[in-house]
Amino acid sequence: MTASAEKFTRQTLLDVQPLTANLFTLRASRDAGFRFRAGQFARLGVTKADGTTVWRAYSMASSPHDEFLEFFSIVVPGGEFTSELSRLQAGDTLLVERQAFGFLTLDRFADGRDLWLLATGTGIAPFMSVLQDFEAWERFERIILVYSVREARELAYQELIAGLAQRDYLAEYGHKLQFIPIVTREQHPGALNGRITDLIANGELERAAGVTLTPEHSRVMLCGNPQMIEDTRHLLKQRDMQLSLSRRPGQVAVENYW
Ligand SMILES: Cc1cc2nc3c(=O)[nH]c(=O)nc-3n(C[C@H](O)[C@H](O)[C@H](O)COP(=O)(O)OP(=O)(O)OC[C@H]3O[C@@H](n4cnc5c(N)ncnc54)[C@H](O)[C@@H]3O)c2cc1C
Ligand SMILES: NC(=O)c1ccc[n+]([C@@H]2O[C@H](COP(=O)([O-])OP(=O)(O)OC[C@H]3O[C@@H](n4cnc5c(N)ncnc54)[C@H](OP(=O)(O)O)[C@@H]3O)[C@@H](O)[C@H]2O)c1
Repeated sequence: MTASAEKFTRQTLLDVQPLTANLFTLRASRDAGFRFRAGQFARLGVTKADGTTVWRAYSMASSPHDEFLEFFSIVVPGGEFTSELSRLQAGDTLLVERQAFGFLTLDRFADGRDLWLLATGTGIAPFMSVLQDFEAWERFERIILVYSVREARELAYQELIAGLAQRDYLAEYGHKLQFIPIVTREQHPGALNGRITDLIANGELERAAGVTLTPEHSRVMLCGNPQMIEDTRHLLKQRDMQLSLSRRPGQVAVENYW
């Protein structure tokens, strides 16, 4: 098969940065023909020593306008893909399927005033892409980024998040973003303590945001732990907020990571 007929391209890792022993970011070159919408994922491949290739879905954390691709990864102990991925270094090859996928994108929502981005763990990745793209800032009056991790040291992209409002192209929109970090397994200054689900149920999340979750105004994106997504969807359903489908527009869009 010729290279251009293959389903994937070979990209080069430009940078690998550990955050903790189990979390790291990767930056890779981007094929000029690779197109995606903020919030989508790619299928990445790594070739093992025995010559076989393992593929997994990864959300782009970089914006659709960046020349590079950025990803944020967990290391699952004994995990088939992440054991290999975490061994790679700058200069190594990463396979990237040509086609991007996924519906955790703003075109799921026809309207809305407040955009809620609710992430657990590495589920923050697609929201970094959404936030580095212009559309969310232009379309919504408020953007509430909620990011839950077990321990404070696992909070990734803190500088990038803090710097978004200072970016030239967001200067007039920067005030729209509210960042609500959540740390569940220790007390951390400036972070809420409690699961996203519990904080929605007891009203603490809305109090912290200073805005209420309503079907009229809120559009909610959920990403990460499947149980968090299921439980949050249930809570939102009790407030008449439904999954947005092509045949039935709603207020909620999700991406399960496992
Ligand atoms: C649409 C989509 C997008 C994804 N985007 C990302 C991403 O941007 N970053 C990322 O790290 N992973 C992402 N994942 C998960 C990723 O595809 C793999 O599951 C992950 O790389 C682990 O692969 P593995 O072979 O090492 O372990 P697997 O055999 O795939 O997983 C083993 C177990 O590890 C746990 N696990 C897997 N992924 C995660 C995770 N991300 N966080 C916490 N626990 C996990 C689950 O309990 C899972 O059953 C995404 C998954 C999907 C479906
Ligand atoms: N993070 C680590 O230090 C660590 C270390 C070794 C192994 N691992 C393994 O790595 C995997 C993923 O760990 P992770 O910390 O990235 O992801 P995670 O377990 O999904 O936790 C990330 C955040 O999501 C919260 N959460 C989990 N389930 C939820 C639910 N049903 N509803 C609402 N919130 C929920 C967690 O709160 P809670 O704290 O309340 O669960 C935490 O704040 C796990 O299988 C874990 O065993 C993690």
